[in-house]
Amino acid sequence: MFGMLRRTRVVLLVVFFIAGSTLYMLFDYPSEPSLHAFFPPSGIQLDAKELRYRTDAIKEAYMHSWNGYMKYAYPTDELMPMSQKGGNSMSGWGASIIDGLGTATLMELHSVVETQLKFIAKVDYTKNENVISLFETTIRYLGGMLSAFDLLSGPYAESFKARKGEQNYELVNELVNQSIKLADAMKFAFNSTTGIPAGYFRLTDTSINTNDVNIIAGIGTLVLEWTRLSDITGDPQYAQLAQRAQEYLLVVQNPEVGEPFPGLLGTHVRLNDGKFQDSFGGWGALSDSYYEYLIKMFVYDKRRFLRYKERWVQAAESTIKYLASSPASRTDLVYVAEYSNHNQISFKGSHLACFIGGNFLLGGQVLKNTKYNVFGLRLVDGCHNTYSSTPSGLGPENFAWDESLVPAGQKEFFTKNGFYYSGSIDYRLRPEVIESYYHAYMVTRDNKYREWAWDAFKAINSTCRTSSGFTTVSDVSQADGGKKADKQESFWFAEVLKYLFLIFNEEGVQGSERIGFVRGSKQKWVITTEAHPFRVQD
Ligand SMILES: *[C@@H]1O[C@H](CO)[C@@H](O)[C@H](O)[C@H]1NC(C)=O
Ligand SMILES: *[C@@H]1O[C@H](CO)[C@@H](O)[C@H](O)[C@H]1NC(C)=O
Ligand SMILES: *[C@@H]1O[C@H](CO)[C@@H](O)[C@H](O)[C@H]1NC(C)=O
Repeated sequence: MFGMLRRTRVVLLVVFFIAGSTLYMLFDYPSEPSLHAFFPPSGIQLDAKELRYRTDAIKEAYMHSWNGYMKYAYPTDELMPMSQKGGNSMSGWGASIIDGLGTATLMELHSVVETQLKFIAKVDYTKNENVISLFETTIRYLGGMLSAFDLLSGPYAESFKARKGEQNYELVNELVNQSIKLADAMKFAFNSTTGIPAGYFRLTDTSINTNDVNIIAGIGTLVLEWTRLSDITGDPQYAQLAQRAQEYLLVVQNPEVGEPFPGLLGTHVRLNDGKFQDSFGGWGALSDSYYEYLIKMFVYDKRRFLRYKERWVQAAESTIKYLASSPASRTDLVYVAEYSNHNQISFKGSHLACFIGGNFLLGGQVLKNTKYNVFGLRLVDGCHNTYSSTPSGLGPENFAWDESLVPAGQKEFFTKNGFYYSGSIDYRLRPEVIESYYHAYMVTRDNKYREWAWDAFKAINSTCRTSSGFTTVSDVSQADGGKKADKQESFWFAEVLKYLFLIFNEEGVQGSERIGFVRGSKQKWVITTEAHPFRVQD
C-alpha cells in the first residue's frame, strides 16, 4: 500500500515537471528550417552493387521463410519454425500466403505469386469454425488482397501477365471477388445499435453481444480497408459501415472519460452506446493504428477525410505537449510516454509504438509541417537507440525510462542508454522500428537510416533464423537473442521484409511509378498498418 502511494506521488511530481517548461524548451522548433540543419546527413552513399547485394539478401530471407512454410506449414496460417509444423492463429484461411502476396509482388517472385493467387481464388470465406478477429482479418486478409489487386492490376500487371486477356487476369480480379465475400461474411459484426463492431465473433454466430466493448485500434483500423473495398467495387456499404463506427472516435460521447487530452483517447468503447470505459492509452498496443489511420485516411482522400486529419493534428499536438519525454540520464533522446487514469503519465514505451516516428514524418510531409518532421526524426533516433544499445542489436518489446523506478541491476544501463528493460524483452519479428527508418530515409535521403535498417536485418538474420524460417527470440539483452520461440508471424512477410526491400530498392519502380511513401505532400500510395500499399484516390 505504501509503495503504491509513493509511486503515485512520484509520478504526479514528474507530470508536473513535464507540464512545467522543460519540454517546451527542448522542443522549441523554428518555423521553416531545412531538416538537414537539424539532422546533417551522415550516411555513406551505397553503390549499385551493394544495393543489389542487400536486396538479394532480403529476397533470400523471403524465399527461406516461404520454402519452410510450403514444406511444413502449407496451407495453415503460419509456420512454427522450431517444431516444423503449421499453426492457425489467424482463423486458418492461410494468413501467410495472403499477407505475403504484396511483398512477393514487389520482389517480382513470379512463381511464388502464382501459387499465392491460385490459393486465394479457392479460399472459402463463408465457412470458418474458429474465432475471427475483425481487426486482424481486415488488416492481414482484406488489406493483403486489396493491395495485391492495386499492384497487380496497376504497375505490376505487365510483369505478372495480368492485363486483360492475359493468363493471370482472372486470378487478379478474383482478389476483389474474394474481398467482397470476406467482407460480406464479417459485416454482421457491425450490427450493434451504434454500428460499433464486435472485435471477435464466429461466422457461425447469428448475432453479436452488444454489451461487449471494443478497443479503439479495433474500431479505428478498419476504415482504410473497408473504404478501399467500396471504392474498388463501387458498392458504398463497406465504407459506410466502417465510417459510421469511426464517428464515435471522431466525436467522443463522454470526453470527461474518453478524451483525457485533446485528441488522445481512452481505450475501450462500449458497443451499445459508444461510451468510453476508461482513460488510459497512448500510441502503443490497443490504440496505435487508430491514430495512424487518421492521417492515412487524409492521404488516401484529401476531400473526404479532412475531419480525420484535424483529429490527427489534435492528437499530434497533444503528444508533443503532454507525452514527449526525455530520460533524465540522456536528455538527447526523446520517447513518447503512455497515460493512465487521471492523466497520469507513465514513462513506458514499446516496439509497437515505434511506428510513431514514421507516422509523424508522413504527417509532416503531407501537411508541410517542419515541427512534425523534426519530432518524427527525433523519435526515430529514440527507437534506434533501443536497438543499438542491446547486445543482440534488436529492440525489446517493452521498455521504460522512469528515473525513480529503475531496477537496481539496471542503473548503469539506464545511465548509459536512457532506458531500461521492463516487461517483455523478446523480439517478435515486428516491423515498427524498420518502418520508421524507411520513412526517415525517404524524407531525408540520409543513408544513415539505410545502415540502421541493414544493421537490424543482419541482427534478425543472425538471431531469429532457423533451418526453416525466422522466429521470435526471447531475450534481446543476450547477444544470441536467448531462446527461440515457435512462430513465424505472417507480418514478417507482409511488413518487415517489405520495408527492408523498399528501403534498398531504388530501382524497384514500375515505369515512372514509385510504390510506397515519397517525400512531399503528394502521395500516390498509402501504406496500411500491415504495410499493404493502396492506391490513393485522385
Ligand atoms: C467475379 O465477380 C464478377 C462480378 O460479380 C463476375 O462477373 C465474375 O465472373 C467473378 N469472377 C469469378 C472468377 O468468379
Ligand atoms: C441485426 O440485429 C437485429 C437485432 O438483434 C436482428 O434482428 C437482425 O437480423 C440483425 N441483422 C443482421 C444482418 O445480422
Ligand atoms: C543470413 O544468414 C544466412 C544463414 O546463416 C547466411 O548464409 C547469409 O549470408 C546471411 N545474410 C547476411 C546478409 O548476413
